[in-house]
Amino acid sequence: MNNEQNMMNKFGEEVLHGLQQTPKSLPSKYFYDARGDKLFQDIMAMEEYYLTNVEFSIFENKKAEILEAFLGKEKSFRLVELGAGDGTKTKVLMKYFLGQNVDFTYSPIDISGHVLQQLKDNIQNELPNLKMESLEGDYFDALAQLNTNHNMKEVVFFLGSTIGNFNLLEAISFVQKLGDQLNPGDLLFLGVDLMKDPQKILTAYNDPHGITKSFNLNLLSRMNKELGANFEMGQFDHFPTYDPITGETKSYLISCCEQDVFFEALNQNIHFEPWEAIFTEISQKYSKEMLQQLADKTGFKSVVNFMHDEMGYLNAVWEKQG
Ligand code: AVJ
Repeated sequence: MNNEQNMMNKFGEEVLHGLQQTPKSLPSKYFYDARGDKLFQDIMAMEEYYLTNVEFSIFENKKAEILEAFLGKEKSFRLVELGAGDGTKTKVLMKYFLGQNVDFTYSPIDISGHVLQQLKDNIQNELPNLKMESLEGDYFDALAQLNTNHNMKEVVFFLGSTIGNFNLLEAISFVQKLGDQLNPGDLLFLGVDLMKDPQKILTAYNDPHGITKSFNLNLLSRMNKELGANFEMGQFDHFPTYDPITGETKSYLISCCEQDVFFEALNQNIHFEPWEAIFTEISQKYSKEMLQQLADKTGFKSVVNFMHDEMGYLNAVWEKQG
């Protein structure tokens, strides 16, 4: 079986599993096919999706302090980036580091070889002097591989509030697992979206342009394309919620009527009750207390926070404890 068929089966399996449960759900990682990648880029470019600009401005304004935190007592490090995407934000920092003659190697990790190749081409053009060793695959496999081959200090980037795709319990086990692949003294550089004006959060996930709606509905198009399903886009709506107590921002697809959807590739029928919801994504917002809890429970110590007070966003530097 080739890799693509394998992925397709996995997709079908997970989709079926999620839709046969009550309540229904779909894994958010499947947003990101070629069209989903493009829609997410459009999301990042919108004014309402404040997260991108605020992280960018933190990097622009705190380059020197960030570098100081990364180096500590060392002279060099490996900058590992989980889910690098197009590396736009990281480039801001790397340009500065190169200008300061810092000795570091850039190791982006991504499951998409396609994404990595684009990133490589782009870096070769813009930062030809950068030492780059990219790794294709699962985050944890790739980190394990790094560890057996080198013993340079590692600074692991996990930006853009991607940690928010986990609820607090899932985040604890993820960061724990990440820490298992690190040595004491290695650093984690996290982008974290904090609890803030609920209206502002809701607007970021329910933009007036309908881009986030298209992004959510794209899961249905993808099932139509790849699994031969017959979802009718007009019969489903995008519905985001924010809970100001727990910080959970959740997105749903709502079935606007009673309907059946047939999956040709799976030879399965899925029934929807009127107004039945499919849970598609969590974007967890943090309080400072929750973030402290996350560090404490996973064996990390907070070194420094680069915080944007007005926008309620921070980039945290955490150190792996012994
Ligand atoms: C890529 C997971 C950080 O949750 O803010 C944006 C994805 N979903 N708008 C987020 C997303 C809807 C995004 N992350």
